[in-house]
Amino acid sequence: MKLCRQSHCKINLLLNVTGRRDDGFHELEMLMLPVPIFDRLEFELTGDGIELTCNWSDIPTDSGNLAWRAAESFAAKAGVAVGVRIRLEKTIPSEGGLGGGSGNAAATLLALNKLHGQPRGQAALQELAAELGSDVPFFLQNEAAVAKGRGEIIELVAPLIGLDGKALLLVRPGFGVPTPLAYEGLARFPDASNRPLGQAGELAKRLAISSLAEAGNEFYNSLEAPVFDKYPLLKLLKGHALANGAEAALLCGSGSTVFAICPDAATAESLGQALEGRFGSQPLMQIVDLPGKFAGVN
Ligand code: C5P
Repeated sequence: MKLCRQSHCKINLLLNVTGRRDDGFHELEMLMLPVPIFDRLEFELTGDGIELTCNWSDIPTDSGNLAWRAAESFAAKAGVAVGVRIRLEKTIPSEGGLGGGSGNAAATLLALNKLHGQPRGQAALQELAAELGSDVPFFLQNEAAVAKGRGEIIELVAPLIGLDGKALLLVRPGFGVPTPLAYEGLARFPDASNRPLGQAGELAKRLAISSLAEAGNEFYNSLEAPVFDKYPLLKLLKGHALANGAEAALLCGSGSTVFAICPDAATAESLGQALEGRFGSQPLMQIVDLPGKFAGVN
């Protein structure tokens, strides 16, 4: 029996790092929004082993791939045979700060749980997801949420009506940013991680009751300081977006994607053209309507 799943990506409307933990990770709070750009996965239970294939040759198809590791840990924790064939069709670029690999891992956990007759409950899946990566638990569901801890504690928020009808422009240049590098760089920018906790919840509340124009300058990402320092193009992209019609713009997670939220699709379209005219065409330049009716993993 085959099972097809799509896995979405995300942007962080806020990423506030508040300290370094003893385990080497950083303590943070994020306001995360699911974004309907999808990878597609096909699962088929087989006799033995994990067989992963992918349409992009630069994506690992062994234990270097989070979907592969998700399949391995699911089998170990659920006490089922590890045999599965996974076909992964990527659309979401890696090292873009969009959580594509984490989404693939969450989709794998949910699909295998279904194929094996739901041996694991929600709490057990959540725990497994957190072991795989800080962003994976968020992708077990498909609503906007505040994430805390190292990113694995998920609290759903009221609908962000301030984003209704807006258009999201995603720009990912031709290079990626390795996540560990972004976090390591924070040590050189102590001011970027000295804000108090509570900002993610505050922004969520504000976007639930008021307009984006009023909340746009509260979008914040601690990782912009180290990442913009190393990759100045990203800072230029953000500045140009804010000067050319975006109501909010921010580095997405650890980058390299920069997102801009525009009042409507026409503004996003002309902003995309302005960015292209100024900085040349970028490998990913995509417009998505917000929030729309979201159809993510299930
Ligand atoms: O959890 P995940 O595998 O996504 O994390 C990738 C890297 O990002 C970690 O190895 C760590 O360097 C950094 N990170 C961090 N603090 C977090 C999340 C990630 O330092 N809360």
